[in-house]
Amino acid sequence: MSYAKAKKYIMNLGKEPIKKRPVIIDCDPGIDDAMALMLFAEFKDNFDLKLITSCAGNTPIDITTKNVQFFASNFFNGVRIAKGSRYPLVRQKQMTAEYVHGRNGLGGYDIGEQDYPCEDDAVEAMYDVIKNSPEKITLVTLGPMTNVAKLVINHPEIKENIEVIYSMIGSTDGTGNITEYGEFNAYFDPEAFDIVVKCNIPMIINPMQLGNETRIKKSAFANMPTETIKDNFVKTLAENIHNEIDDSYIFLYDPNTIVALVKPELYEFVPCDIHVYTYPDVGGKTVMKPNENGIHKYQFVTDKTKLNNFILKYLFKD
Ligand code: RIB
Ligand code: CA
Repeated sequence: MSYAKAKKYIMNLGKEPIKKRPVIIDCDPGIDDAMALMLFAEFKDNFDLKLITSCAGNTPIDITTKNVQFFASNFFNGVRIAKGSRYPLVRQKQMTAEYVHGRNGLGGYDIGEQDYPCEDDAVEAMYDVIKNSPEKITLVTLGPMTNVAKLVINHPEIKENIEVIYSMIGSTDGTGNITEYGEFNAYFDPEAFDIVVKCNIPMIINPMQLGNETRIKKSAFANMPTETIKDNFVKTLAENIHNEIDDSYIFLYDPNTIVALVKPELYEFVPCDIHVYTYPDVGGKTVMKPNENGIHKYQFVTDKTKLNNFILKYLFKD
């Protein structure tokens, strides 16, 4: 134990144990989800991670669930996990972002078979955790909001025990990255996002614009250390994620939601109103208008270099 940890231990002897913020993470790994989860793992001792749930999105639900099993087993051993919804609320059809993340969602990195115990109903697992938590839960979503929408539809009273929702979703100005107007997570299930926005739980949105700003040259990863399995995993992910904006960069969308949780001083937060267009309108288009009385906020970066260095430091820290 380091001197600092020993000192902290002694100073806290006889004191109330420090209450850790209870957190649920819903995700669709996905390479940037994977990086976000590894980033969170560096700070997990500061939180009480209650549950990780999978959602369909970057790849079909069976793949995202297998990838959640991999992360639970290798980074969050012992955490409860559960499988989420296969389809969006309304449009019962599968879409993916496999061209970005690869068919296995991890840029082809082979994780083998996974047998980490996984419950089969993410919505009921969320409900059980939140209902039984003595403290209000912080919800973190890194994919489409289908599971969260089903949670507040099936159990509306549960909103009272959710403190805040940190989400990578949507766009501030109606532009998109999967279509000209749709950011992927909003476009995949706009009805779900609209329902969650309107249920009056404060949201801290990490919008597409922020991920487009948090761009890191793929060549920067080439010079990163390769001593550990994790280093090689991160490098493989970075070299195999693709985009249609500029493929010499990787755009770190999801990690910005985790950094907002663990290092909020790297951002400014703008109170806003969120409008989600749903089908048959231009489903998935979103606009976030500043409003000092808005209950939601969107985040933007003040120092890109500082942010990118923070993310890289913890992605390659063992
Ligand atoms: O638009 C980017 C978002 O869609 C990220 O969460 C990425 O993982 C995909 O889910
Ligand atoms: Ca994601």
